[in-house]
Amino acid sequence: MENDEAPLDTLRVLRNMLSSHIFFEENYLFDIARNPENAAMINGLEAEHGGILQLLDKIEDYLVRGDVARSKDRAEGLERVLEAHDVSEMDTVYKVLDDRVDLKSVISARESITVPAGWKSKVLAKYDRKR
Ligand SMILES: [Fe+2]
Repeated sequence: MENDEAPLDTLRVLRNMLSSHIFFEENYLFDIARNPENAAMINGLEAEHGGILQLLDKIEDYLVRGDVARSKDRAEGLERVLEAHDVSEMDTVYKVLDDRVDLKSVISARESITVPAGWKSKVLAKYDRKR
């Protein structure tokens, strides 16, 4: 039983880390970095955030149902999305922030921020309003 729960526990830790990352970027960093040149790229990053959270839901769903093969397949997809997302953010948002703000102090402010219960990323919240 303990081993059956380990992947779910790991997934929940990962979800907390990624939710914190996404919440902080969407509510703080992206607003600082957004300009006319990168606005479309940042919209794309927000769409990727929604996709990342949906992939986490899918992986959890497969794990709960005991479908290890599909959960691994989606986890590999998540890894690829995260790698590409990281490169895109470094080339857009973080490059701009490097030039404009003390990135270390902004990122250290993240330590004191808690993701509110029931929070949804911008894109997923928009989908909810359209249902
Ligand atoms: Fe991000």
